[in-house]
Amino acid sequence: MALNVIVAKDYQELSQKVADLMIERIRQNPEIKLGLATGSTPVGMYRNLIEDHKKNGTSYKNVTSFNLDEYVGLPETHLQSYRYFMNDTLFDHIDINKENTYVPRGDVDDFEKECVDYENLIEKHDGIDLQVLGIGTNGHIGFNEPGTSFDSKTHTVELKPSTREDNARFFASIDEVPTRAITMGIDTIMKSKEILLVISGENKKEAVEKLLSGEVSEDFPASVLNNHPNVTVFVDEAAYPSANK
Ligand code: F6R
Repeated sequence: MALNVIVAKDYQELSQKVADLMIERIRQNPEIKLGLATGSTPVGMYRNLIEDHKKNGTSYKNVTSFNLDEYVGLPETHLQSYRYFMNDTLFDHIDINKENTYVPRGDVDDFEKECVDYENLIEKHDGIDLQVLGIGTNGHIGFNEPGTSFDSKTHTVELKPSTREDNARFFASIDEVPTRAITMGIDTIMKSKEILLVISGENKKEAVEKLLSGEVSEDFPASVLNNHPNVTVFVDEAAYPSANK
């Protein structure tokens, strides 16, 4: 089944289109279970969700959210932890009950238990209705790096040098970028009922090309989305291979 692709003029239009669809889904189902991503790409979309919440009163009181991943070793108070990012970028500005926002813990002693608990928690909530994803330049989704089994559940991973380099911009130096992360697995992600993959910028062009070629391989994790029945890919022209040709 071909992926549904929506091409936006630029980052601003991209962020608005994704936010509009999310708002529609939240209004249709006020108890929706959202799967959320961090990174640069969804920041504009989160900004639009906040603006809509303030202007139009879309409520998150009964919404539950599960984030994709967290760095191993960073406590929730660390400025670069994904929990901190989510509070700062979205949760602190809407009426969501923080107790219903879940991010894997990066500062536990027993990661095996944390992974099983996180997977069970999602199942206990009857799974994710709407999952937002970004994509790494190497095709990762969540922190599922190339080579990750499509059967994987929530697990810890060793980050690839390319991923640490991509993310070094958020840290004082590359040495400070954690080497491991805890992430939902590919199977966890694929169980979501609907998926929105958001992609922006020239440096993602090659990844978009690979994704849209339709070839499915564990060497390029995002390619698994070609097997999901309900994915919309939102891409801006800068990242879209056949735009501006
Ligand atoms: C973040 C995540 C990652 C990012 C990806 C793209 O929670 O799971 O897969 O979505 O690394 O990051 P940006 O948007 O910063 O290019």
